[in-house]
Amino acid sequence: EAAEKGGYPHFMLKEIHEQPAAITATVSPRVEDGMPDLRIPELSDEKLRSIRNIHLVACGTAMHAGMVGKTAIERLARVPAEVDIASEFRYRDPILDPDDLVIIISQSGETSDTLAALRLAKSRGVPVLAVVNVVGSSIARAADYVLYTYAGPEIAVASTKAYMVQLCTLYLFAFRLAYARGRLSEAETRRLTAELLRAGEVIQPRLADCEQIKYLASRFVNTQSCFFIGRGFDYALSLEGSLKLKEISYVHSDAYAAGELKHGTISLITDGVPVIALATQKQVYEKTISNAKETKSRGARVILFTTKDVVVPEGVADYVVRLDDYDELLMPLQLIVPLQLFAYYMAVLRGCDVDKPRNLAKSVTVE
Ligand code: AGP
Repeated sequence: EAAEKGGYPHFMLKEIHEQPAAITATVSPRVEDGMPDLRIPELSDEKLRSIRNIHLVACGTAMHAGMVGKTAIERLARVPAEVDIASEFRYRDPILDPDDLVIIISQSGETSDTLAALRLAKSRGVPVLAVVNVVGSSIARAADYVLYTYAGPEIAVASTKAYMVQLCTLYLFAFRLAYARGRLSEAETRRLTAELLRAGEVIQPRLADCEQIKYLASRFVNTQSCFFIGRGFDYALSLEGSLKLKEISYVHSDAYAAGELKHGTISLITDGVPVIALATQKQVYEKTISNAKETKSRGARVILFTTKDVVVPEGVADYVVRLDDYDELLMPLQLIVPLQLFAYYMAVLRGCDVDKPRNLAKSVTVE
């Protein structure tokens, strides 16, 4: 097993560090002459133009990837997209139309609720595109079309590199969809595709910054409960950062859309409670920073993740983690890395079984 870990103490850390290679393996084969190419003849530009609604369906981390995908699809292509938890979708008699597209996302391709959601969509005559990591898995076999992610085997229960390449695949899909529908010019499509291609390079410094994140984890190691806040993409990333933390470190953690704090959660903010505020999106970062300030003035210990040039006023955060310049739309690819590392180091410092957290299986094949 030590050999399989390639010198890393845990599979999770190894897999976090494998992300640049996974990005290249997943994105490069789908770029032709600088343009995104899904390489699925049935999903031609003409077919992409005819889609009315998109339903992204998955569980856990894969569902969180779907949330990023929804935002990218709606923002770029202006196609209505909704995200569903597979176990909800399958029992809620969803409104589906043959002109819709269901996108099923799964690392293992064996999650039972996700497979059942796929079968439901197919039984209603809706085409299903699967974004799957395991070749030949049940979901890959049952879907109409497959976009494989090339993360390689993911051993740690906590999904990291599979999430990263799910995001990349959904971005590529969103670019092609938006281009096909005339919402993105060829020049802009090329620019975004080139930015996506260099994502592996963009995250390298975040992988190298692990000492900073380890230090932060050491400051919060004895915490009982933690809150993540953000808006838009940063809310989707809050959910994923929070899931990662609770899954492997057993620290109670919740994620809130920052604007929701005032609608209840802020009553839980007392002296010393950690708040992790994510503020990477220009349109809303000032709002999130002001929410962070509200928690700080009630005694919270705030870690703020933001971009290079944002001016952080006094009294907002105890610690500020800066991300490098990158296209704002793709910022989730960069932001997720320190959140994964934070969860990892919290779990290590708390003496948890990082790769095999209690009560959890890598693939949930029963309901
Ligand atoms: C992620 O860290 C979790 N272990 C879990 O939420 C996982 O993403 C979920 O069970 C979905 O699995 P799948 O991608 O294999 O379908």
